[in-house]
Amino acid sequence: MHAILNPADVDASGLVELAQDPTAPEGLVFHHAVEGKPLATPWQVAVLRAALLAKHSLPEGLVLDCACGSGIQLAAYASSLHRPVLGVELEPARARASAFNIRTVAAHHAAMDEAWFTQSRIVSGDGTDAEGVLQAVGTEQNIAFLHLDPARPRNSRTHALEEMQPPLHSVLRGWAPHFASDPAFVLDLSPRLTDEQREEVEALVEDVWPGLQRTWEWTSRGRGRVDRLALWGGRVAESGTARRFVRVPPTLGNEALILRTGVTDEPPTVRIHPPKRGEFVTLLDAALVESGLVSSWLPSVSKDRDFRWAVTEGRRPQVHHEHALRLNEQQRSLVQATGRVVELLSMELNESTVDGLVEHALEHNFRSVKLRMDLDPALQPVLQGSLDRQLQRRHGVRDGFLTRHPNGHTLLLCVSGRDEVEQGSP
Ligand SMILES: C[S@@+](CC[C@H](N)C(=O)[O-])C[C@H]1O[C@@H](n2cnc3c(N)ncnc32)[C@H](O)[C@@H]1O
Repeated sequence: MHAILNPADVDASGLVELAQDPTAPEGLVFHHAVEGKPLATPWQVAVLRAALLAKHSLPEGLVLDCACGSGIQLAAYASSLHRPVLGVELEPARARASAFNIRTVAAHHAAMDEAWFTQSRIVSGDGTDAEGVLQAVGTEQNIAFLHLDPARPRNSRTHALEEMQPPLHSVLRGWAPHFASDPAFVLDLSPRLTDEQREEVEALVEDVWPGLQRTWEWTSRGRGRVDRLALWGGRVAESGTARRFVRVPPTLGNEALILRTGVTDEPPTVRIHPPKRGEFVTLLDAALVESGLVSSWLPSVSKDRDFRWAVTEGRRPQVHHEHALRLNEQQRSLVQATGRVVELLSMELNESTVDGLVEHALEHNFRSVKLRMDLDPALQPVLQGSLDRQLQRRHGVRDGFLTRHPNGHTLLLCVSGRDEVEQGSP
Protein backbone atom coordinates (compact mmCIF):
# COMPACT_ATOMS: atom_id res chain seq x y z
CA MET A 1 0.00 0.00 0.00
CA HIS A 2 1.19 3.47 -0.81
CA ALA A 3 0.39 6.46 1.38
CA ILE A 4 0.78 9.99 0.05
CA LEU A 5 2.34 12.76 2.10
CA ASN A 6 2.02 16.41 1.20
CA PRO A 7 5.06 18.29 2.58
CA ALA A 8 2.81 21.30 3.22
CA ASP A 9 0.77 19.26 5.72
CA VAL A 10 3.39 17.37 7.74
CA ASP A 11 4.82 18.36 11.08
CA ALA A 12 7.87 17.12 12.95
CA SER A 13 6.05 15.04 15.58
CA GLY A 14 7.65 11.63 15.97
CA LEU A 15 10.80 12.68 14.13
CA VAL A 16 13.57 12.57 16.65
CA GLU A 17 16.98 12.64 15.09
CA LEU A 18 17.25 16.35 14.53
CA ALA A 19 20.63 17.27 13.15
CA GLN A 20 22.62 20.28 12.02
CA ASP A 21 24.33 19.01 8.88
CA PRO A 22 27.80 20.56 9.22
CA THR A 23 27.82 21.25 5.47
CA ALA A 24 24.49 23.11 5.48
CA PRO A 25 24.09 26.84 6.14
CA GLU A 26 23.23 28.06 9.66
CA GLY A 27 19.57 27.62 10.43
CA LEU A 28 18.96 24.80 7.96
CA VAL A 29 18.36 21.88 10.32
CA PHE A 30 17.18 18.52 9.04
CA HIS A 31 15.01 15.94 10.76
CA HIS A 32 15.64 12.23 10.51
CA ALA A 33 13.90 9.09 11.67
CA VAL A 34 14.88 5.51 12.39
CA GLU A 35 18.58 5.77 11.69
CA GLY A 36 18.05 7.91 8.62
CA LYS A 37 20.83 10.34 9.50
CA PRO A 38 23.88 8.27 8.49
CA LEU A 39 22.17 7.41 5.20
CA ALA A 40 21.48 11.00 4.25
CA THR A 41 23.44 12.79 1.55
CA PRO A 42 25.44 15.75 2.97
CA TRP A 43 23.64 18.96 2.00
CA GLN A 44 26.64 20.47 0.25
CA VAL A 45 27.07 17.36 -1.94
CA ALA A 46 23.33 17.29 -2.67
CA VAL A 47 23.28 20.96 -3.72
CA LEU A 48 26.37 20.61 -5.86
CA ARG A 49 24.84 17.63 -7.65
CA ALA A 50 21.59 19.52 -8.16
CA ALA A 51 23.56 22.41 -9.70
CA LEU A 52 25.23 19.98 -12.12
CA LEU A 53 21.85 18.51 -13.01
CA ALA A 54 20.45 22.00 -13.61
CA LYS A 55 22.93 22.42 -16.49
CA HIS A 56 20.99 19.79 -18.46
CA SER A 57 17.63 20.47 -19.99
CA LEU A 58 15.09 18.00 -18.69
CA PRO A 59 11.78 17.36 -20.43
CA GLU A 60 8.39 17.96 -18.82
CA GLY A 61 7.59 15.32 -16.23
CA LEU A 62 8.40 14.12 -12.75
CA VAL A 63 11.71 14.45 -10.93
CA LEU A 64 11.70 11.22 -8.95
CA ASP A 65 13.82 9.78 -6.13
CA CYS A 66 12.53 6.25 -5.63
CA ALA A 67 14.42 5.56 -2.36
CA CYS A 68 14.51 9.04 -0.92
CA GLY A 69 15.53 8.33 2.71
CA SER A 70 15.40 11.62 4.60
CA GLY A 71 14.80 13.48 1.34
CA ILE A 72 17.95 15.59 1.49
CA GLN A 73 18.93 15.02 -2.14
CA LEU A 74 15.30 15.36 -3.18
CA ALA A 75 14.95 18.71 -1.40
CA ALA A 76 18.14 19.95 -3.07
CA TYR A 77 16.78 18.99 -6.49
CA ALA A 78 13.42 20.65 -5.85
CA SER A 79 14.88 23.91 -4.56
CA SER A 80 17.66 24.13 -7.18
CA LEU A 81 15.64 23.09 -10.23
CA HIS A 82 12.51 24.91 -9.01
CA ARG A 83 10.51 21.85 -9.99
CA PRO A 84 8.08 19.74 -7.96
CA VAL A 85 9.58 16.40 -6.93
CA LEU A 86 8.24 12.97 -6.12
CA GLY A 87 9.96 10.86 -3.47
CA VAL A 88 9.27 7.24 -2.54
CA GLU A 89 10.49 5.73 0.72
CA LEU A 90 9.77 2.29 2.15
CA GLU A 91 10.25 3.17 5.81
CA PRO A 92 7.16 5.23 6.80
CA ALA A 93 8.84 7.41 9.45
CA ARG A 94 11.64 8.29 7.02
CA ALA A 95 9.05 9.17 4.40
CA ARG A 96 7.64 11.69 6.89
CA ALA A 97 11.15 13.01 7.52
CA SER A 98 11.54 13.51 3.76
CA ALA A 99 8.32 15.48 3.55
CA PHE A 100 9.29 17.59 6.56
CA ASN A 101 12.81 18.27 5.21
CA ILE A 102 11.39 19.50 1.91
CA ARG A 103 9.20 21.81 3.95
CA THR A 104 12.23 22.99 5.95
CA VAL A 105 14.16 23.79 2.77
CA ALA A 106 11.19 25.61 1.25
CA ALA A 107 10.80 27.66 4.46
CA HIS A 108 14.53 28.42 4.43
CA HIS A 109 14.18 29.76 0.87
CA ALA A 110 10.90 31.56 1.70
CA ALA A 111 9.34 29.48 -1.09
CA MET A 112 6.33 27.89 0.61
CA ASP A 113 3.98 29.38 -1.96
CA GLU A 114 5.97 28.21 -4.95
CA ALA A 115 4.79 25.36 -7.15
CA TRP A 116 7.98 23.37 -6.61
CA PHE A 117 6.98 23.07 -2.97
CA THR A 118 3.18 22.97 -3.07
CA GLN A 119 3.14 20.29 -5.79
CA SER A 120 5.89 18.04 -4.37
CA ARG A 121 4.77 14.72 -2.87
CA ILE A 122 6.30 11.86 -0.88
CA VAL A 123 4.95 8.34 -1.22
CA SER A 124 5.43 5.97 1.66
CA GLY A 125 5.80 2.67 -0.14
CA ASP A 126 7.85 0.48 -2.46
CA GLY A 127 9.95 2.45 -4.95
CA THR A 128 10.25 -0.48 -7.35
CA ASP A 129 6.47 -0.56 -7.90
CA ALA A 130 6.26 2.13 -10.59
CA GLU A 131 2.61 1.52 -11.52
CA GLY A 132 1.51 1.42 -7.87
CA VAL A 133 3.30 4.69 -7.08
CA LEU A 134 1.96 6.54 -10.14
CA GLN A 135 -1.55 5.27 -9.52
CA ALA A 136 -1.43 6.31 -5.86
CA VAL A 137 -0.32 9.82 -6.82
CA GLY A 138 -2.98 9.87 -9.53
CA THR A 139 -0.73 11.33 -12.19
CA GLU A 140 -0.56 10.81 -15.92
CA GLN A 141 2.87 12.43 -16.03
CA ASN A 142 5.96 10.64 -17.23
CA ILE A 143 9.34 10.57 -15.54
CA ALA A 144 11.77 13.31 -16.56
CA PHE A 145 14.58 12.25 -14.25
CA LEU A 146 15.21 9.41 -11.79
CA HIS A 147 17.57 9.48 -8.80
CA LEU A 148 18.48 6.32 -6.92
CA ASP A 149 20.64 6.15 -3.81
CA PRO A 150 20.02 2.61 -2.58
CA ALA A 151 20.61 1.57 1.02
CA ARG A 152 23.58 -0.69 1.64
CA PRO A 153 24.09 -2.87 4.69
CA ARG A 154 26.38 -1.18 7.14
CA ASN A 155 29.79 -2.81 7.50
CA SER A 156 29.37 -4.64 4.24
CA ARG A 157 32.72 -5.92 3.07
CA THR A 158 31.82 -6.86 -0.44
CA HIS A 159 29.47 -4.01 -1.38
CA ALA A 160 27.89 -6.54 -3.72
CA LEU A 161 25.21 -5.14 -6.00
CA GLU A 162 22.71 -7.71 -4.70
CA GLU A 163 22.93 -6.11 -1.26
CA MET A 164 21.54 -2.79 -2.45
CA GLN A 165 17.97 -1.96 -1.48
CA PRO A 166 15.96 -1.33 -3.56
CA PRO A 167 17.78 -3.52 -6.11
CA LEU A 168 19.12 -1.64 -9.11
CA HIS A 169 17.68 -3.92 -11.75
CA SER A 170 14.15 -3.81 -10.27
CA VAL A 171 14.22 -0.02 -10.22
CA LEU A 172 15.55 0.33 -13.76
CA ARG A 173 13.19 -2.27 -15.19
CA GLY A 174 10.21 -0.92 -13.23
CA TRP A 175 10.61 2.73 -14.24
CA ALA A 176 12.05 2.35 -17.77
CA PRO A 177 8.63 2.32 -19.53
CA HIS A 178 7.61 5.56 -17.78
CA PHE A 179 10.29 7.95 -19.05
CA ALA A 180 9.04 10.96 -20.97
CA SER A 181 11.60 10.61 -23.76
CA ASP A 182 15.22 9.51 -23.43
CA PRO A 183 15.94 8.24 -19.95
CA ALA A 184 17.86 10.46 -17.55
CA PHE A 185 19.13 9.17 -14.22
CA VAL A 186 21.75 9.36 -11.49
CA LEU A 187 22.66 6.15 -9.67
CA ASP A 188 24.38 7.15 -6.43
CA LEU A 189 26.31 3.99 -5.60
CA SER A 190 28.67 2.68 -2.97
CA PRO A 191 31.99 4.57 -3.20
CA ARG A 192 33.73 1.27 -2.65
CA LEU A 193 32.55 -0.49 -5.79
CA THR A 194 35.36 -2.28 -7.57
CA ASP A 195 36.00 -1.88 -11.30
CA GLU A 196 34.31 -5.26 -11.85
CA GLN A 197 31.23 -4.12 -9.92
CA ARG A 198 31.10 -0.94 -11.98
CA GLU A 199 31.11 -3.13 -15.06
CA GLU A 200 28.21 -5.12 -13.57
CA VAL A 201 26.28 -1.86 -13.16
CA GLU A 202 27.05 -0.92 -16.75
CA ALA A 203 25.76 -4.32 -17.87
CA LEU A 204 22.49 -3.82 -15.96
CA VAL A 205 21.98 -0.43 -17.63
CA GLU A 206 22.98 -1.81 -21.03
CA ASP A 207 20.43 -4.57 -20.59
CA VAL A 208 17.62 -2.03 -20.17
CA TRP A 209 18.87 0.72 -22.53
CA PRO A 210 21.45 -0.60 -25.00
CA GLY A 211 24.05 1.96 -26.08
CA LEU A 212 22.92 4.63 -23.61
CA GLN A 213 25.41 7.46 -22.93
CA ARG A 214 27.01 7.22 -19.47
CA THR A 215 29.36 9.28 -17.29
CA TRP A 216 30.95 7.93 -14.10
CA GLU A 217 31.51 10.53 -11.41
CA TRP A 218 33.87 10.34 -8.44
CA THR A 219 33.26 12.94 -5.73
CA SER A 220 35.79 13.86 -3.07
CA ARG A 221 35.61 16.05 -0.01
CA GLY A 222 39.37 15.75 0.39
CA ARG A 223 39.22 13.25 3.22
CA GLY A 224 41.51 10.63 1.72
CA ARG A 225 38.77 8.56 0.17
CA VAL A 226 36.06 8.57 -2.48
CA ASP A 227 32.97 10.19 -0.94
CA ARG A 228 30.47 9.31 -3.65
CA LEU A 229 30.55 7.27 -6.81
CA ALA A 230 27.70 7.90 -9.21
CA LEU A 231 26.68 6.92 -12.71
CA TRP A 232 24.95 9.64 -14.73
CA GLY A 233 23.00 8.12 -17.60
CA GLY A 234 21.07 9.13 -20.70
CA ARG A 235 20.40 12.81 -21.30
CA VAL A 236 22.21 13.84 -18.09
CA ALA A 237 25.42 12.01 -19.02
CA GLU A 238 28.05 14.43 -20.33
CA SER A 239 28.67 14.05 -23.99
CA GLY A 240 32.25 12.89 -24.59
CA THR A 241 32.93 12.45 -20.86
CA ALA A 242 33.35 8.87 -19.69
CA ARG A 243 34.70 9.92 -16.29
CA ARG A 244 34.35 13.02 -14.19
CA PHE A 245 36.02 13.94 -10.92
CA VAL A 246 34.38 16.49 -8.62
CA ARG A 247 36.24 18.05 -5.70
CA VAL A 248 33.68 19.51 -3.31
CA PRO A 249 35.03 22.91 -2.22
CA PRO A 250 36.08 23.26 1.42
CA THR A 251 33.42 25.92 2.04
CA LEU A 252 29.80 26.16 0.98
CA GLY A 253 29.20 28.49 -1.94
CA ASN A 254 32.63 28.15 -3.57
CA GLU A 255 32.97 26.57 -7.02
CA ALA A 256 33.71 22.88 -7.24
CA LEU A 257 36.78 21.79 -9.17
CA ILE A 258 35.70 19.44 -11.96
CA LEU A 259 38.01 17.37 -14.15
CA ARG A 260 36.82 15.36 -17.13
CA THR A 261 38.08 12.82 -19.57
CA GLY A 262 36.62 11.02 -22.54
CA VAL A 263 39.11 8.20 -22.38
CA THR A 264 40.22 5.76 -19.75
CA ASP A 265 43.81 6.59 -18.78
CA GLU A 266 46.23 3.83 -17.92
CA PRO A 267 46.11 3.57 -14.12
CA PRO A 268 49.36 4.63 -12.44
CA THR A 269 51.63 1.71 -11.61
CA VAL A 270 53.96 1.54 -8.65
CA ARG A 271 57.64 2.08 -9.51
CA ILE A 272 59.59 2.20 -6.28
CA HIS A 273 62.96 3.96 -6.45
CA PRO A 274 65.29 4.55 -3.53
CA PRO A 275 64.25 7.87 -1.97
CA LYS A 276 66.64 10.79 -2.39
CA ARG A 277 67.11 14.23 -0.93
CA GLY A 278 66.04 17.10 -3.14
CA GLU A 279 63.28 15.24 -4.98
CA PHE A 280 59.65 16.25 -4.52
CA VAL A 281 57.06 14.09 -2.82
CA THR A 282 53.35 14.66 -3.29
CA LEU A 283 50.47 13.01 -1.46
CA LEU A 284 47.39 13.29 -3.64
CA ASP A 285 43.64 13.15 -3.18
CA ALA A 286 42.90 9.42 -3.09
CA ALA A 287 39.66 9.86 -5.03
CA LEU A 288 41.50 11.65 -7.84
CA VAL A 289 43.75 8.61 -8.20
CA GLU A 290 40.82 6.18 -8.06
CA SER A 291 38.90 8.18 -10.65
CA GLY A 292 41.61 7.43 -13.21
CA LEU A 293 42.06 11.14 -13.97
CA VAL A 294 45.34 11.65 -12.14
CA SER A 295 47.61 10.71 -15.04
CA SER A 296 46.18 13.43 -17.25
CA TRP A 297 45.97 15.99 -14.41
CA LEU A 298 49.57 15.79 -13.12
CA PRO A 299 51.24 16.97 -16.35
CA SER A 300 48.88 19.97 -16.33
CA VAL A 301 50.37 21.21 -13.03
CA SER A 302 54.00 20.23 -13.50
CA LYS A 303 56.79 20.50 -16.01
CA ASP A 304 57.82 16.94 -15.11
CA ARG A 305 56.90 14.09 -17.39
CA ASP A 306 58.36 11.34 -15.24
CA PHE A 307 56.27 10.55 -12.18
CA ARG A 308 57.50 7.75 -9.94
CA TRP A 309 54.51 6.31 -8.15
CA ALA A 310 55.47 4.98 -4.73
CA VAL A 311 51.91 4.31 -3.48
CA THR A 312 48.78 4.14 -5.64
CA GLU A 313 46.24 2.74 -3.18
CA GLY A 314 44.85 3.63 0.23
CA ARG A 315 44.34 7.02 1.82
CA ARG A 316 47.68 8.60 0.85
CA PRO A 317 48.72 7.96 -2.72
CA GLN A 318 52.37 9.04 -2.99
CA VAL A 319 54.22 10.18 -6.11
CA HIS A 320 57.85 11.35 -6.48
CA HIS A 321 59.03 13.87 -9.06
CA GLU A 322 61.86 16.32 -9.79
CA HIS A 323 60.23 19.73 -9.77
CA ALA A 324 57.72 21.61 -7.66
CA LEU A 325 54.07 21.46 -8.69
CA ARG A 326 52.58 24.71 -10.00
CA LEU A 327 49.26 24.97 -8.22
CA ASN A 328 46.61 27.62 -7.99
CA GLU A 329 44.29 27.72 -4.97
CA GLN A 330 41.74 25.35 -6.50
CA GLN A 331 44.30 22.85 -7.73
CA ARG A 332 45.88 22.87 -4.28
CA SER A 333 42.70 21.19 -2.97
CA LEU A 334 43.67 18.02 -4.86
CA VAL A 335 46.91 17.73 -2.95
CA GLN A 336 47.10 16.52 0.63
CA ALA A 337 50.74 17.58 0.90
CA THR A 338 53.59 18.37 -1.45
CA GLY A 339 57.18 19.30 -0.72
CA ARG A 340 60.87 18.77 -1.19
CA VAL A 341 62.70 16.04 0.73
CA VAL A 342 65.30 17.61 3.00
CA GLU A 343 66.18 14.58 5.10
CA LEU A 344 65.91 10.79 4.90
CA LEU A 345 65.45 9.33 8.36
CA SER A 346 65.99 5.64 9.05
CA MET A 347 63.91 5.39 12.16
CA GLU A 348 60.60 4.18 13.56
CA LEU A 349 58.50 7.01 14.90
CA ASN A 350 57.21 6.45 18.43
CA GLU A 351 57.17 8.17 21.81
CA SER A 352 60.80 7.36 22.48
CA THR A 353 62.08 8.62 19.10
CA VAL A 354 59.97 11.76 18.63
CA ASP A 355 62.62 13.95 20.33
CA GLY A 356 65.14 12.79 17.72
CA LEU A 357 62.74 13.88 14.98
CA VAL A 358 62.44 17.29 16.66
CA GLU A 359 66.24 17.66 16.51
CA HIS A 360 66.30 16.93 12.78
CA ALA A 361 63.42 19.34 12.22
CA LEU A 362 65.25 22.09 14.13
CA GLU A 363 68.44 21.52 12.13
CA HIS A 364 66.35 22.31 9.04
CA ASN A 365 64.72 25.33 10.63
CA PHE A 366 61.16 23.94 10.79
CA ARG A 367 58.44 25.56 12.88
CA SER A 368 55.88 22.86 12.09
CA VAL A 369 55.93 19.31 10.77
CA LYS A 370 52.61 17.52 10.09
CA LEU A 371 52.56 13.74 10.30
CA ARG A 372 51.19 12.45 6.99
CA MET A 373 51.58 8.72 7.46
CA ASP A 374 49.68 5.76 8.87
CA LEU A 375 50.11 5.64 12.62
CA ASP A 376 48.25 3.99 15.46
CA PRO A 377 45.24 6.35 15.87
CA ALA A 378 45.85 6.54 19.62
CA LEU A 379 49.51 7.48 19.12
CA GLN A 380 49.06 9.99 16.29
CA PRO A 381 47.75 12.91 18.42
CA VAL A 382 50.35 12.24 21.10
CA LEU A 383 53.24 12.41 18.62
CA GLN A 384 51.78 15.36 16.71
CA GLY A 385 51.17 17.22 20.01
CA SER A 386 54.73 16.61 21.16
CA LEU A 387 56.15 17.81 17.83
CA ASP A 388 53.96 20.94 17.81
CA ARG A 389 54.83 21.87 21.39
CA GLN A 390 58.57 21.40 20.98
CA LEU A 391 58.84 23.18 17.62
CA GLN A 392 56.68 26.13 18.65
CA ARG A 393 59.10 26.96 21.47
CA ARG A 394 61.93 27.55 18.98
CA HIS A 395 62.36 30.06 16.20
CA GLY A 396 62.00 27.95 13.06
CA VAL A 397 60.34 29.41 9.98
CA ARG A 398 59.63 26.49 7.64
CA ASP A 399 56.53 24.31 7.39
CA GLY A 400 56.60 20.74 6.27
CA PHE A 401 55.47 17.19 6.71
CA LEU A 402 56.76 13.74 7.44
CA THR A 403 55.71 10.71 5.42
CA ARG A 404 56.88 7.14 5.04
CA HIS A 405 58.59 5.80 1.96
CA PRO A 406 56.98 2.51 0.90
CA ASN A 407 60.29 0.69 1.51
CA GLY A 408 58.93 0.76 5.08
CA HIS A 409 62.08 1.86 6.90
CA THR A 410 62.71 5.40 5.62
CA LEU A 411 60.83 8.47 6.77
CA LEU A 412 60.88 11.46 4.45
CA LEU A 413 61.10 14.89 6.07
CA CYS A 414 59.78 17.37 3.52
CA VAL A 415 59.59 21.14 3.39
CA SER A 416 56.35 22.41 1.92
CA GLY A 417 56.06 26.11 2.56
CA ARG A 418 54.80 28.26 -0.28
CA ASP A 419 58.31 29.68 -0.83
CA GLU A 420 59.47 26.18 -1.70
CA VAL A 421 56.68 25.45 -4.17
CA GLU A 422 56.14 27.30 -7.42
CA GLN A 423 53.04 29.46 -7.52
CA GLY A 424 50.26 29.91 -10.05
CA SER A 425 48.91 27.94 -12.94
CA PRO A 426 51.33 26.55 -15.48
C1 LIG B 1 20.75 5.66 1.30
S1 LIG B 1 19.08 6.00 1.68
C2 LIG B 1 18.72 7.41 0.72
C3 LIG B 1 19.20 8.70 1.33
C4 LIG B 1 18.80 9.91 0.55
N1 LIG B 1 19.52 10.01 -0.69
C5 LIG B 1 19.00 11.20 1.34
O1 LIG B 1 19.61 12.15 0.83
O2 LIG B 1 18.51 11.28 2.46
C6 LIG B 1 18.24 4.69 0.91
C7 LIG B 1 16.81 4.51 1.34
O3 LIG B 1 16.19 3.52 0.53
C8 LIG B 1 15.09 3.00 1.27
N2 LIG B 1 14.57 1.80 0.58
C9 LIG B 1 15.04 0.53 0.58
N3 LIG B 1 14.30 -0.26 -0.19
C10 LIG B 1 13.31 0.52 -0.73
C11 LIG B 1 12.23 0.30 -1.62
N4 LIG B 1 11.99 -0.90 -2.12
N5 LIG B 1 11.44 1.35 -1.91
C12 LIG B 1 11.66 2.59 -1.41
N6 LIG B 1 12.68 2.86 -0.57
C13 LIG B 1 13.50 1.84 -0.23
C14 LIG B 1 15.72 2.77 2.63
O4 LIG B 1 14.71 2.68 3.63
C15 LIG B 1 16.60 4.02 2.76
O5 LIG B 1 15.95 5.02 3.51
